[in-house]
Amino acid sequence: MCGIVGYVGHRDVLPILINGLKRLEYRGYDSAGIATYNESQGINLVKTKGKMANLEVLLESSYYQESFLGIGHTRWATHGIPNDVNSHPHASNSGDLVLVHNGIIENYESIKNLLIKRGYEFKSDTDTEVLVNLIEEVKKKEQVKLGKAVQIALNQVVGAYAIAVFDINKPNEIVAARLGSPLVIGIGAESNEHFIASDIHPFIEYTKSVVYLEEGELAIVKGKKIKIRNIKDDKLKSILITELNVELEEIRKGDYEHFMLKEIHEQPKVILDTYRGRLSENKDMIKMSGLIDNKEILSKIDRIVILGCGSSYIAGLLGEYLLEDFIGIPVEVEYSSEFRYRNPIIRENDLFIAISQSGETADTLAALKLVKSKNAFTFGICNVVGSSIARLTDAGAYTHAGVEIGVASTKALMSQMIMLYMFAIHLAQIRQKLSQDKFNIYRDELLSLPEKIERALALEPAIKKIAYIYSEANNFLYLGRKYNYPMALEGALKLKEISYIHAEGYPAAEMKHGPIALIDNDMPVVVIATENENSEKIISNIQEIKARNGRVIGIIREDSKLKSLFDHAIEIPSTFDQLMPIISLVPLQLLAYHIAVIKGKNVDQPRNLAKSVTVE
Ligand code: G6P
Repeated sequence: MCGIVGYVGHRDVLPILINGLKRLEYRGYDSAGIATYNESQGINLVKTKGKMANLEVLLESSYYQESFLGIGHTRWATHGIPNDVNSHPHASNSGDLVLVHNGIIENYESIKNLLIKRGYEFKSDTDTEVLVNLIEEVKKKEQVKLGKAVQIALNQVVGAYAIAVFDINKPNEIVAARLGSPLVIGIGAESNEHFIASDIHPFIEYTKSVVYLEEGELAIVKGKKIKIRNIKDDKLKSILITELNVELEEIRKGDYEHFMLKEIHEQPKVILDTYRGRLSENKDMIKMSGLIDNKEILSKIDRIVILGCGSSYIAGLLGEYLLEDFIGIPVEVEYSSEFRYRNPIIRENDLFIAISQSGETADTLAALKLVKSKNAFTFGICNVVGSSIARLTDAGAYTHAGVEIGVASTKALMSQMIMLYMFAIHLAQIRQKLSQDKFNIYRDELLSLPEKIERALALEPAIKKIAYIYSEANNFLYLGRKYNYPMALEGALKLKEISYIHAEGYPAAEMKHGPIALIDNDMPVVVIATENENSEKIISNIQEIKARNGRVIGIIREDSKLKSLFDHAIEIPSTFDQLMPIISLVPLQLLAYHIAVIKGKNVDQPRNLAKSVTVE
């Protein structure tokens, strides 16, 4: 949660902070603020409740002198309601230190009480203001420089953080540190400037050379050099520079009205990018070094547990069906948060798969740490290269969906499902559960998907019409059986996330055990009815809805005989039952998107949500 940006160097810092924060706004948009410094103006701290647009208006009317040092923040509130005072940056009592923070300081109350006893005063309700004053107190008491004071202070706090802080007495330096929240440093092309941010996007037009700060590391960042130390023992660490492979175009909206729509339309290419390079030269094998290099371990596993949150959890549910079909061993899917708070059984022959677009979701990261502490084998399916989950797992595969900016996940989920399909057929190959002939059939179907997704996208005008008819509904029900059940959950999740219409996803057969009581003319039901097998069962469910005056939108195969059963039928290209969810995902996304647009909602930045949830 929250986005952090910082700069120290030779350029005017304000535009860097503003553009950077706009690119980080997906991480939170309750409030935003910046603090810059130069000798004649001193600290220029401007912050406000609301989105970046509010901050920009405020900045236009405030006096600003060119500065070369600054930090900025876009907030997703944890401690303290979103208001001007609680917005970051926060200054220390003396006014010398200014700090931005992403995360939660769990023991902030006891530290605050201690500081109050020592005469400190607090304006806000935030844990962040406590931290900046703790650093100030340490600095004064121990008579140390900022870097050392931050290190000592952080050893006194419990919780998660990514911070950037500067001291007006050292106007060419920012101290940054992380534990549990991401932070990356951009090395300026001429090495006389440095950028700090929660992810790489704020600075990709300036540099492609980055240093990912590791868990528990603190960086002293100056215009010309950086030093990285371990927060616990203050030991100097080596600096590992990574060269990025991201272009600015990827984070622009282009001709699309919203990032979400752009990302939905990118999906044929995303599928290609996900399987690109993952077929052997003569196309008779999947190539996944994370699997083949661990062949020994993987041939012994007798249970798979998939961990994830939000849409990544939903990808896991499809993975469960696919892996059980292909490998024939038990698979469980768990919300990361639920998994870690019970007494989970973690066995030697278990494989744990962590799925996360961002690779930073706190609950998944914490669940993974628990699994690793019991020495089980972990595999990561992440989109963001170099992310915490990707680095923590024993092996993994990147989904290469590209940057996803819309807060509601679309193409990232698509790529996770594709990855799980490849994972399942590859593991089946490794465990000799799949004949070459069958593999070839599964491979060909995979290769045909981008074109089929294109055809599903072409249904957009028809889906938009359906969206107009139902945009006034207050509730929606989504139903699906077997492979389609995860998509019922995803359809409902997408709709509620961006249109704020209450929606529930249910296994179709479960409808009669509860939700059927809700069905009437005002409750549209979306039935994902793409199965070839057992279609008579879903027909009964549709009849049950119709008998109660329910209005039914069906997602069916182009060649389906079920069309006449529905008030509206969305006919999508056919593939294996197992892969149909990949195609039905598209109309579900488009339906949610158009309903939200018709209702005038901010689809890219839905209220209360954030793209990457780095608090537990
Ligand atoms: C947030 C996002 C969702 C996402 C979930 C898991 O809730 O709004 O779109 O599915 O986090 O995120 P991850 O990065 O772990 O996939």
